[in-house]
Amino acid sequence: MTTPFAPRQWSSRFAFLMAAIGSAVGLGNIWRFPYVAGENGGGAFILIYGLTMLAIALPILAAEILLGRMGHKSPINTMRQLVAENRAARLWTLIGWGGTIGAFVVLSYYAVIGGWALKYIEFAITGAFAGDDNAATLAHFEAFVADPWALIFWQTIFLGFTVFIVSVGVTSGIERAVVSLMPLLFLLIAGLAVYATTMPGFGEAMRFMFDIRLSEVTPATVLAAIGQGFFSVSIALGAMMTYGAYLDRSVSIGRSAVIIALADTAIAVVAGIAIFPLVFTYGLEPSAGPGLTFITLPIAFGTIGGGVLIGSVFFLLLSIAAITSAISLLEPVVAWVEEAVDMSRRKLAVIAGILVWILGFGTVLSFNHWSDFHPLAPLGILAGMTVFDVLDYVVLNIVMPTVGLLMSLFVGWVLTREKVEEALGVSGARWVGFWRFSLRFVAPLGVVSIFVANVLI
Ligand code: PHE
Repeated sequence: MTTPFAPRQWSSRFAFLMAAIGSAVGLGNIWRFPYVAGENGGGAFILIYGLTMLAIALPILAAEILLGRMGHKSPINTMRQLVAENRAARLWTLIGWGGTIGAFVVLSYYAVIGGWALKYIEFAITGAFAGDDNAATLAHFEAFVADPWALIFWQTIFLGFTVFIVSVGVTSGIERAVVSLMPLLFLLIAGLAVYATTMPGFGEAMRFMFDIRLSEVTPATVLAAIGQGFFSVSIALGAMMTYGAYLDRSVSIGRSAVIIALADTAIAVVAGIAIFPLVFTYGLEPSAGPGLTFITLPIAFGTIGGGVLIGSVFFLLLSIAAITSAISLLEPVVAWVEEAVDMSRRKLAVIAGILVWILGFGTVLSFNHWSDFHPLAPLGILAGMTVFDVLDYVVLNIVMPTVGLLMSLFVGWVLTREKVEEALGVSGARWVGFWRFSLRFVAPLGVVSIFVANVLI
C-alpha cells in the first residue's frame, strides 16, 4: 500500500538538528526564560534550571526522539503502534494525545505572542522607540496590547507564515526554512550579548544571573525550572517525537539530544546576558514579568547608534525563532490528520491553523477586554489568572510534566533494554545505562516530588 501523503524524512542530520534546535529555541528562550528567571530570583533559578535540564529534561528529550523514530508516525499513531507492539496498557497512548492537544493549545497563545514580535519589527523600523525612556516604551506596549484588533491582525500574519511553511511539506517547507534561518539567529543573539557587556549595568546583571542565593530556592522555583526546561527544549508536546519520526536510523539520538539541549540552554543564557544589563542599566525591575523583553529592549534600540537597524533585525529574528518553534507545534497535529484523513496537506494545515486561530482569541482578549476575567476563580483555583495565564499554567505545570513522566516511564520500564538498544543502534554502551537509570528513577521522582511539593505549598 502506498502512503497517501508525501514521504516525510529529513535529508540530513544537519537538517534535523536545525529543525530541532529551531523548535527548541523560541520565545521560551528569549522572551520567557529571562522573565521567569527574573521572577524566581535570578541565579538561584538558573542553577536549578541547569540541574533539572541535565537530570530530567535531557534524558526525556532523548526518549521522546527515540519514541518518534521507533514509530515513524505522528505522536498519536506512533504511541498506538508502540502500545500494540509491546502489549502495553492503553494509558500510554495518553502520551500521543496529551502531547498533540497540548501542542494545539500552546500554539494558540504562542501565535499571539509571536504576533507581538512581528509588530515590534514595525515599531523598530519606523523608529518608534527613538529617545524613548521606560515610560514611553511601556506606553507603546500597553497601547498595543489594549487593542484586540491589532493583536488579532499580527496573530493572523504569524499563523499565516506558520501554516504556509507546514503546508508546503517537511523537506521543502520546514527544512528549507530552518536551515537558513537558524544560523542567522545564532549570530544576531551573540552580537547583542557582546553589546550588552559594554553597558554600565553589566556587572550587576551578571551578579543577578550567576550569584547563587540558595535561600531563595523554594519548591516553586524547582517547579518553575522543570516547567521552563520542558517548554524550552520542546519536550512533551509531540514536537520532538514528530521530528524524530522523520529521522534516519543512522543518526545518533544520544548525541543529537545533547547538542539540542546544549544549544537551547546556551541561547537562553545568552538571551539573559543580552537583556539583564539593559534592565539594570535603566533601573528596571528584573521581575517585571511577560513585558520584560518588549519593554526593556526597545529602550536600548531607541538610544544606541544604529538602533533602528539593530532593533529591526532583532525583532525579525525573534519572530523567526518563534516561527521555527510554531511550525513544530503545528506539525504533530498536521502529521496526525494527514494519516487519518484523505485530504491534501495544504488543506489540512489551513484547517488546523483556523482552529488554532480561533482558540487564540482567548489569549488576545486576556490582555484587554478580559483582563479582569478569571475563568477558574469560581472554582476557587488559579484565581487571579486570565485565560492566557490558565492555558499557560495548565500546559506547563500539568500537561507537560504528566506527558513527560509517562514518556520517561514508558521508555524506562515498558521497553526492554534490548529493544531500546536496537532502536538506538548501539549495544552495551555505558551511557545507555545511565540514561535508563534516569528515565526509570531520577526523572520520574523529580517530576512526582515537584507535583507533591506544589500541592502542599
Ligand atoms: N521550545 C519552544 C520555545 O522555547 C516552545 C515549544 C515547546 C515548541 C514545545 C514546541 C514544543 O519557545
